[in-house]
Amino acid sequence: MKIDLINLRESFSIFEKEKSSAYLDSAATAQVPDSVINKMEEYYKYYCSNVHRGVNLQNEKSTNEFETARNVIQSFVDAKYVSEIVFTKNCTESINLVANGWAKHNLKAGDGIVLSILEHHSNIVPWLQLKKEIGINLHWIDLSEDGQLDMNQYEKIIEEENIKLVAITGQSNVLGIQTDLINIIAKAKAKGAPVLVDAAQLIAHKQVNVQKLDCDFLAFSGHKLYGPTGIGVLYVKRERQEEMQPWITGGGSVLEVHRDKFIPSETPSMFEAGTPPIAEAIGLAESIKWINMYEWKDIQEYESSLISYATEEMNKISSLKILGSNNKHGCISFILDGIHPHDVADIAGEMDVSIRAGNHCAMPLHTALGIPASNRMSIALYNKKEDIDLLIKAINKAITIFSK
Ligand code: ALA
Repeated sequence: MKIDLINLRESFSIFEKEKSSAYLDSAATAQVPDSVINKMEEYYKYYCSNVHRGVNLQNEKSTNEFETARNVIQSFVDAKYVSEIVFTKNCTESINLVANGWAKHNLKAGDGIVLSILEHHSNIVPWLQLKKEIGINLHWIDLSEDGQLDMNQYEKIIEEENIKLVAITGQSNVLGIQTDLINIIAKAKAKGAPVLVDAAQLIAHKQVNVQKLDCDFLAFSGHKLYGPTGIGVLYVKRERQEEMQPWITGGGSVLEVHRDKFIPSETPSMFEAGTPPIAEAIGLAESIKWINMYEWKDIQEYESSLISYATEEMNKISSLKILGSNNKHGCISFILDGIHPHDVADIAGEMDVSIRAGNHCAMPLHTALGIPASNRMSIALYNKKEDIDLLIKAINKAITIFSK
């Protein structure tokens, strides 16, 4: 289906009232189409029950919807086997599952993990924790002069260090850079190092195909993909599953339990102890059905027209500096001369323009850029040029107030 903004925005009750507001914070959490809300409401109204735990009709229906959701996600990321799709509660938990279920059992003191300076804290802190626990080394890819990841530095690290995992974002939540995953993964593979992709930001802006990428792990959340909060996904390639141990343990993840031992179930249940986020998984599948109505090339074309328009308008403000290079997707971060980002976000907030201020959970990146904080506007498919115009108005208002 072609993108028709009026029609598309009608799928969201939140945009019903014609009011002067702009939601430019979808990189934090995207708005949810009514079809997703209705699907979740249906579960609670008509067949609310646990999954894999009963034989009544309600249970059959919820199990069926829950497992169908797994199939929808399998096909969305093009995983070879449905068992490669593990439900978690968010992208952060997915990354922690790689750290605690795989890395802790396959890495030892002195082994290296490659991270990039673009990483979100969720793809840094689990590795710092592992460094503390088992003594692994972290190697960082910095930005080069042109504002892209320094691939020469990456190649040197891969050649010279004892790398056992590359954990890399597909798209920066601050600079909007999309990393060259194909190249990064190929180089890691040549040295036998598995790759984890943090696709939290990438997933709503570019088609992800795990078989083409040839990554070992890929993590994302539902709430940045027009879906509910409380649901995340970890794709785990079958070969890697064989190397994993259970992490969060309990009911639903075991075949047998005795006084002195337990036998875990097959994957993915082995990693899904306890009652899973059932309504949320079903809701996420519905959000994927929603995004699947549009062609990726149209999504990308439309979103890049918004990013270009915002860049042009921002460049007209002489005291505004856009962070990073031109390769931007989904968001633009910026600073204003002499005005604290929190003050800008406050003024914008008063005008009902939602943007972020702070380090956006990317403190090492901000430190490398030599700033403590920035503002970030981020877009989704439902944004329009008028949203950007409102943001520019808010920025100009902040400049007027704070330069007095
Ligand atoms: N990770 C989310 C962000 O970057 C919350 O805003």
